[in-house]
Amino acid sequence: KIIILDFGSQYTQLIARRVRELNVYCEIHPFSKIPAFDDNVKGLILSGSPCSVRQEENPDIDLDALVGKVPILGVCYGAQLIAHKLGGEILPSEIREYGRANLSQVDQHSELMKEVNIGSQVWMSHGDTILEVPAGLKVIASTDSVRVAAFQSTEHPMWGIQFHPEVTHSDDGKKLLRNFVVHICECSQDWTPDIFVEATVEGLKERLGDDQVVLGLSGGVDSSVAAMLIHKAIGKNLHCIFVDNGLLRKNEYEDVLESYKGMGLNVKGVNASQEFYAALAGLTDPEDKRKAIGRVFIEVFDKEAHAIQNVKWLGQGTIYPDVIESVSVNGPSVTIKSHHNVGGLPEKMKMKVVEPLNTLFKDEVRRVGRTLEIDESILGRHPFPGPGLGIRILGDVTAEKVRVLQEVDHFFIKGLKDAGLYDEVWQAGAMLLPVQSVGVMGDERTYESVVALRAVASVDGMTADWCHLPYDFLAKVSNDIINRVKGVNRVVYDISSKPPATIEWE
Ligand code: XMP
Repeated sequence: KIIILDFGSQYTQLIARRVRELNVYCEIHPFSKIPAFDDNVKGLILSGSPCSVRQEENPDIDLDALVGKVPILGVCYGAQLIAHKLGGEILPSEIREYGRANLSQVDQHSELMKEVNIGSQVWMSHGDTILEVPAGLKVIASTDSVRVAAFQSTEHPMWGIQFHPEVTHSDDGKKLLRNFVVHICECSQDWTPDIFVEATVEGLKERLGDDQVVLGLSGGVDSSVAAMLIHKAIGKNLHCIFVDNGLLRKNEYEDVLESYKGMGLNVKGVNASQEFYAALAGLTDPEDKRKAIGRVFIEVFDKEAHAIQNVKWLGQGTIYPDVIESVSVNGPSVTIKSHHNVGGLPEKMKMKVVEPLNTLFKDEVRRVGRTLEIDESILGRHPFPGPGLGIRILGDVTAEKVRVLQEVDHFFIKGLKDAGLYDEVWQAGAMLLPVQSVGVMGDERTYESVVALRAVASVDGMTADWCHLPYDFLAKVSNDIINRVKGVNRVVYDISSKPPATIEWE
C-alpha cells in the first residue's frame, strides 16, 4: 500500500482516489501521526498544504527518518518541504502560479517522467516557488515560468513535483502517478472490488463467527452495501431494521422494503412515523428538529434491537471520508450543521461496532455494490439526508405538510427520471416554504404554499453548483406540481451555489 501524509491540502483526498483508481490501496494519515511502516508499505506521498515552509511552525515531519525506507513523492507543499529541508531556497512566487501551465522541458530519462510529454498541461496552485534546488537534487521538468516544476534526488528514491498530478486538468497526471506507484514503488494493482468483497467477507466471517449483528438500513447506498457484505458473511445472523420515520419520500418505505427482501436480507420494517411527528410537534429551530429526529431514531432502533436475542454487534455503513482525520492547520473547524444523525447510537447500544466500508470512497462503495449485484435503483440513488423531509419543511413539521411535500417531490424526481436527467444531477429535492402567496386559479383567488426546487451538481456534497436544468423541463414540472398538488400555487427554482448556500435549506 501507499501512505499519503496529509498536510491539509484540499486535494489530499483526490490523490488517494487517483491511487485507488490504479487499483492500489492507500491510506491518508495526518502528517503529525505517521503510522509505523510494515512490509506492506511500498511508498509515501507528501500532500500539499495551505501553509508555507517559510512560515514559523509550518507543518513539519522528520524526513531523515523516512528517506531511504520507501520511495517518497512530494506534491506541491510536499515538494517544497523536501527542497527546503535539503537547503533549497523557497520564495513567494513573483508571478501568479494558479491554474494551467505547460511543461516546456521534461527529462524523459527520469523514471517519474516516463511518457510525460513536453507541452503537456499541468495544474499549478501555489503561492511559493522553489527558486533553486540544493545539492543532491536535480530538476527533471520545467514550465516557462517555473523552472523547478519537478525534481528528483540524486542519492535517494525521492521526487518532488510543484504541480498537482491528481487533478484532471493535469493531462499526464495519471501517468505520473502510475510511474510512481506502479513502476517505482512496485505496488501490485490487485485492489479491485472483487478482491475487496472476497477478503472482506472472509475477514467478517472470522471476526463475527456465530455472533448476531444488528444493522439499521436507510435505503441509501452505504447501509445497503454494508448489509449485503455482512449478509454474505453470516447470512441470517444479520438482523436489519428499516425505520419509517414518516419523513421519507413518497412510497419509499414500501418500495425499499420490498427490494431489500428481494435481496435476501433478513429485514424488519418498523413504522414509527407517529413517534417522530409527536417529537417534532411545535419545533421550528433546525438544530432542535435534527436532534429530535436523531433522538427518536435511537430510541426506536434501540428498542427493536433489544427485542432480538443475544446481539453483540452493531453494523454501520460508515465510509472512508467519515473517518479520515482531516488535519486542520488553520485551527478547529466549526460545526455548520450537525449531520451525524445517529452519532450517539454505538454508545447507547453498548455493542461492538462493525463497519466494513470504512476504507472506501463513495464511488468505490458503488463499485462494490455492483459486484454484489445490488439493484441499480439503490446504487444510483441520490443522497438523501437522515432527517429526510423534516429539514426540507421549513419551520414546524406536520403530517399534512409531509404529505404535500411528498407529492411535490414525487413530481420533481419522477420528472427528472422521465426526462433522462436524474443521473446527471447529484442531488435533487423540494423544500416546502413557510410562506403563503396569492394566486388565481380559474376565477378564484388562492392563498397557498410556495415550494422551492433544488438540483445540484457536486462530487462530494462539500461544494455544489446549481444545475442549469432546461427551461422546458422546469416549466413542465412546475405545471405538474401546481395542477396536481393541492395546497401549492407557486414553484420557484433555487439558483444558489454552495458555498455560501448549503444544499439543504435547514
Ligand atoms: P448541506 O445542506 O450541508 O448538505 O450542504 C450536504 C449534504 O449532506 C446532506 N445532509 C445530511 N445528511 N444528515 C444526513 O445524513 C443530516 O442531518 C444532513 N444534513 C444535510 C445533504 O442532503 C447533502 O447531500
